[in-house]
Amino acid sequence: MNKLYPDSKVEIQGFTAKFYDNMINLLSFGSYTRFINNAINSMNITSNDKILDFGAGTGRNALLMNNCLSEEGEILGLEISELMIAQFKYKTKTLNNLDIKNQRIDQPFELEKKYDKVFISFVLHGFPFDVQKQIIQNAYNALKKDGEFIILDFNEFITDKTPLYFRIPFKIVECKYAFEYVERDWKQILSEFGFGDFQEKSFLKKHLRLLKAKKLNK
Ligand SMILES: C[S@@+](CC[C@H](N)C(=O)[O-])C[C@H]1O[C@@H](n2cnc3c(N)ncnc32)[C@H](O)[C@@H]1O
Repeated sequence: MNKLYPDSKVEIQGFTAKFYDNMINLLSFGSYTRFINNAINSMNITSNDKILDFGAGTGRNALLMNNCLSEEGEILGLEISELMIAQFKYKTKTLNNLDIKNQRIDQPFELEKKYDKVFISFVLHGFPFDVQKQIIQNAYNALKKDGEFIILDFNEFITDKTPLYFRIPFKIVECKYAFEYVERDWKQILSEFGFGDFQEKSFLKKHLRLLKAKKLNK
């Protein structure tokens, strides 16, 4: 798979894609499991929600979300990495209500139905602003009225004012788009697309955020 955005670090390939979950566990000194459980519990998933997972990765998040679903609930992951798709399929092979599709989220697409929630976890920060806006539009189009776009990602902050324990790894690991991402007013941007009724919860001393945005009547 050729990278469409050479400066991005979310187009994950090779070794990193193959061992993604292990690497995240290692880099977070084992704290990621607790964090992601907390974050997904804060999504307020209802048992028959139909959820789209943009840039679904290995299926780790889908499995956690599925704990809140009945058999009526569904999750469809959209993903471009074959290595990620293979892990998602393996993890969810016994679950008929979880599926994954090779589908870019950065270009317009049509799906067969509308969803209650679109979840995007640690993907949005990794694209140029125009592409982020296309992804927001795609989420809007995929949602039912009153559906929610739920972004789990970096919070808004001034990088040089963050404490060193956060700033140093952020500067080493993150791409240039992430530095721009954290300085934007995302509630304002989402409002321009027709989202509102925002709810948010922060994690890791406010450096990470789960932002819920409801699709309003236009
Ligand atoms: C940093 S990982 C996050 C994975 C997962 N959401 C999580 O939180 O564990 C970014 C994911 O986005 C996927 N991705 C990158 N660009 C994409 C695109 N244009 N369309 C769909 N998925 C994409 C990557 O393959 C990768 O699985």
